[in-house]
Amino acid sequence: MENLELLYEGKAKKVFKTDRPDVYLVRYKDDATAGNGAKRGTIRGKGVVNNLVTNHLMRFLETKGIPTHLVEEVSDTETLVKKVQIVPLEVIVRNVAAGSLAKRLGMEEGTKLKTTVLEYCYKDDALGDPMVNEYHIAALGVATPEELRQIADYSMQINAALGEYLKTAGIELIDFKLEFGRDSEGKIILADEISPDTCRFWDVKTHAHLDKDLFRRDLGGEEEAYREVLHRLLGK
Ligand code: TMP
Repeated sequence: MENLELLYEGKAKKVFKTDRPDVYLVRYKDDATAGNGAKRGTIRGKGVVNNLVTNHLMRFLETKGIPTHLVEEVSDTETLVKKVQIVPLEVIVRNVAAGSLAKRLGMEEGTKLKTTVLEYCYKDDALGDPMVNEYHIAALGVATPEELRQIADYSMQINAALGEYLKTAGIELIDFKLEFGRDSEGKIILADEISPDTCRFWDVKTHAHLDKDLFRRDLGGEEEAYREVLHRLLGK
């Protein structure tokens, strides 16, 4: 998969054009950033884990009726995906207070939320991805009300399906971030990744972090934790 035209390089992935106009190739990297790029480093083996875990979870979600951008895994770090127009929103789903919500609302991390919380952040690095509500989203013209309703419905369905599935692997789904795009017909489909970079995964029994918080908070053990998630979900 060499000699492909690089379309975009993000913090954790590169995206290339392919000989199919409707298909891109994503290559996952070991590079890690936190705090909107303030902290940089590498997590050895992260690219492999995030690629394989994302594809595994997207295949699972497809069986639950969620359309995704996944086309085909082509190597341990590379996957063909449908070309989409990304909706510039980070959709955050929360079951348990942690991270920025715990700080903002003065809740202790680990407190079960009385109801699932959905948040939207407008994807704009220069602005620091500000949190927005449905009115801001309509005012910015980022998504139509119908599209946003579809995005919210899918996000809640994904939360229910993933939460139940991950529990069978001894993982509690604390919170996670999703991104959606419009396919060639304008339909909303799940894009980006679902991995220890974009989810908070806690061990059900010990509440040990199995995710990027180990890196963000300088706790250590992130390589082992990422490998553990891969092992629990794919037996590798
Ligand atoms: P937060 O508590 O920092 O707002 O993060 C909530 C969840 O969303 C957590 O699982 C990490 C994920 N997330 C991303 O994947 N990318 C981001 O840019 C942010 C802010 C959060």
